[in-house]
Amino acid sequence: MKALVTGANGFIGSHLCDALLAAGHAVRGLVRASSDLAWLEDKPVELARGELRDQASLERAAAGMDWVFHAAATVRPSDPADFERVNYEGTRVLAEACRRAGVRRFVLLSSAAAAGPAAGPDRPVTEDDPVQPVSRYGRGKLRAEQALVELRERLHSVILRLPAVYGPRDRNSLVLLRGLARGVRPVLPGSFSLVYVADVAQAALLAAQAEVPSGSVYFISDGGCYDHRTLGRLVAGMLGRRGVGVPVPKWVIRSAAAVSEWLQREGAIFNRDKARELVQDCWACSPQRAMAELGYRPGHELERGMRVTIDWYRERNWI
Ligand SMILES: NC(=O)c1ccc[n+]([C@@H]2O[C@H](COP(=O)([O-])OP(=O)(O)OC[C@H]3O[C@@H](n4cnc5c(N)ncnc54)[C@H](OP(=O)(O)O)[C@@H]3O)[C@@H](O)[C@H]2O)c1
Repeated sequence: MKALVTGANGFIGSHLCDALLAAGHAVRGLVRASSDLAWLEDKPVELARGELRDQASLERAAAGMDWVFHAAATVRPSDPADFERVNYEGTRVLAEACRRAGVRRFVLLSSAAAAGPAAGPDRPVTEDDPVQPVSRYGRGKLRAEQALVELRERLHSVILRLPAVYGPRDRNSLVLLRGLARGVRPVLPGSFSLVYVADVAQAALLAAQAEVPSGSVYFISDGGCYDHRTLGRLVAGMLGRRGVGVPVPKWVIRSAAAVSEWLQREGAIFNRDKARELVQDCWACSPQRAMAELGYRPGHELERGMRVTIDWYRERNWI
């Protein structure tokens, strides 16, 4: 198959390219002129220069493709309006371009943030629960999903909702891991699901091929539910540190967000919107439907996935 991966140079996009190439598919990657291409170096990925706000570049990228995996999104925009402009509007315009190009399957990498938090660790969110996003990021991703659902008669799409993803090449977890390597173990409130990046790639390939109705939505996770105390202890142990658990109560998160926003104004990367996600009690989601309908099987339980990730960071002296 010929597959387009948007955000191909990013964390998840680059692993998706690897999985597609390993399975023998031809891969085109949508990247920006400014994109860092380190994770695509020496790989047979055809580069399509473009930008989610540039319709003509999306038309060119989609031309001749069988599958499109849409991983590009802005996660920490300097302007919060980009959650709408890039993540929703960009997805809608890309999907329209794919429909015109005759793309056979469109797989959206969405987020558990689009659905909102769970009632508790023993009540993980499922695809049947009402959606209740708590952040602008979540609402933008939900609108992107809805754009595909509206188009489902004319473009066959599958939507994957991901919790926090970890694995080699991820820079988001780096601050936390560097802290743990120095013996500082922040204990934030709440519990959450996780998934190892290669399992996301596996799920995306299954979503491209499964005989499921267009517009279907699936949560992808390793099936566990973790808290910061347990995760911190596990990772600190792997790093050979015991570390001191430093509780970070909700009021500290909220206050830090307000101060960060006040100092940096509109462009604040840590802000009250992000804090609304961090103070939720539970972000557990269930992969049961993906297991039943896509044949998804989480291949990496936390300890194994984290071991591979830490070894990879260490080899590159990241920690
Ligand atoms: N990582 C997670 O824990 C997680 C969890 C849930 C959902 N997701 C979703 O998974 C997808 C991939 O996330 P990731 O962690 O791989 O993020 P990432 O490493 O930051 O990659 C994002 C990619 O999107 C590209 N991009 C951003 N704005 C763009 C624009 N205007 N036009 C074209 N490309 C643009 C980036 O290009 P540049 O390199 O040029 O900036 C980059 O290639 C996203 O849709 C995200 O919402 C991720």
